[in-house]
Amino acid sequence: MLRSCATMPRMSTAPDLSAVDGLTPLERATRHKLMLGLFIPLQQGAWSPSTYPRETSWSFEYNAECTVRAEELGFDLLFGLAQWLGKGGYGGAMRFRENAADPLLVTAGLAPLTRNIILISTVHILYGWHPLHLAKFAASLDHMSGGRWGLNVVTGYKKSEYEMFGIDPIEHDERYARADEFTAMMKRLWTEDDNVTMDGRWWSLRNAFVAPKPRHGSVILVNAASSGAGLEYAAKHSDLIFITSPAGADLDRACAALPAHNARIKALARKHGRSVKTIINPHVICRETEREALARRCAIVEHADPVAADNFYATFAGGDQASWRAATREDWIVGGNVHVVGSPEQVVDAFARLHAAGCDGVQVNFYDYLPDLEFFGARVLPLLRSAGFRG
Ligand SMILES: Cc1cc2nc3c(=O)[nH]c(=O)nc-3n(C[C@H](O)[C@H](O)[C@H](O)COP(=O)(O)O)c2cc1C
Repeated sequence: MLRSCATMPRMSTAPDLSAVDGLTPLERATRHKLMLGLFIPLQQGAWSPSTYPRETSWSFEYNAECTVRAEELGFDLLFGLAQWLGKGGYGGAMRFRENAADPLLVTAGLAPLTRNIILISTVHILYGWHPLHLAKFAASLDHMSGGRWGLNVVTGYKKSEYEMFGIDPIEHDERYARADEFTAMMKRLWTEDDNVTMDGRWWSLRNAFVAPKPRHGSVILVNAASSGAGLEYAAKHSDLIFITSPAGADLDRACAALPAHNARIKALARKHGRSVKTIINPHVICRETEREALARRCAIVEHADPVAADNFYATFAGGDQASWRAATREDWIVGGNVHVVGSPEQVVDAFARLHAAGCDGVQVNFYDYLPDLEFFGARVLPLLRSAGFRG
């Protein structure tokens, strides 16, 4: 059946900024005092195992509209999560996250709809990929997007995911040793103007070659680790690190814990002669008044799907990952790493505190994405600009 034009994603109306300022997408993003990203809702139910009414959808059309609108509002980047879940997702009546579009393919589809926004996709590099495959795919995506494509290198931390692929779980720090070798091979393929032969511990290349090369020497490299081994990897290879609050979702506690975390990451990068930018993902619930915003937060929690909430929380409370140890079950019903709930002025104040705690950027997630994004654009962005956080 032919789709009607009404459901076709529309193209961004934003002007091509590279023609105006001549900067690379990463240079343009990092020029802002506070980088701004959108965590797109590729998974059914996005971040919140709650049935409180909303229109958020995992569909390509919905995510495309979120992306195009974010670009028009001046966001620097978007980010897509990757996950592998069984039938029913995290379960419950809402079958939380059962439908989940793949970010690699979605970001490829978003490239021709947009002109400026950085498109970051997660890839689980240890689930059967060869570095030559991903180096080639990434270089192609770099060209399709005009140098705007970013790779969030994840190793996977769920035993169930490894089992799905028929792979034995890999010890935590060895995962990052493998990621290091994988990334080193991709970097050689992206930069060397000759066939590459390389014997690693886990992969080998024989006269392997990738052309075209990414236009800025590498695709934008991202990681989201918290552990010692993960941060060593990220400090060595990544341009951007998605961080979590070591103290859970409460803003006060997060702002007390984040300065040391951010300082440690920056020091690690300096040790490798590099600099990295850190980005945290707040779940933003913003209304004209604090009272309305708090009431909305309450409604989201009251409508929790109890089974989905239990399973979602158990995932992050367990395993050998180091990122979410301090988050509570209620934190996970709302979603995100830090909760920012309040009026537009309070949201800007919270972002200012996260920036003062050493975060170079925020990538926001919402409950009801399109209307919440629109409200954010109308009420929060002008305040962020006048406070000097956005150019
Ligand atoms: C913002 C953010 C996004 C992440 N996205 C994914 C993802 O899409 N898929 C995934 O398996 N893990 C994802 N992770 C998990 C990390 O890759 C990492 O495994 C986790 O933070 C634990 O850190 P550690 O491996 O250093 O212990 C994400 C983490 C953060 C903070």
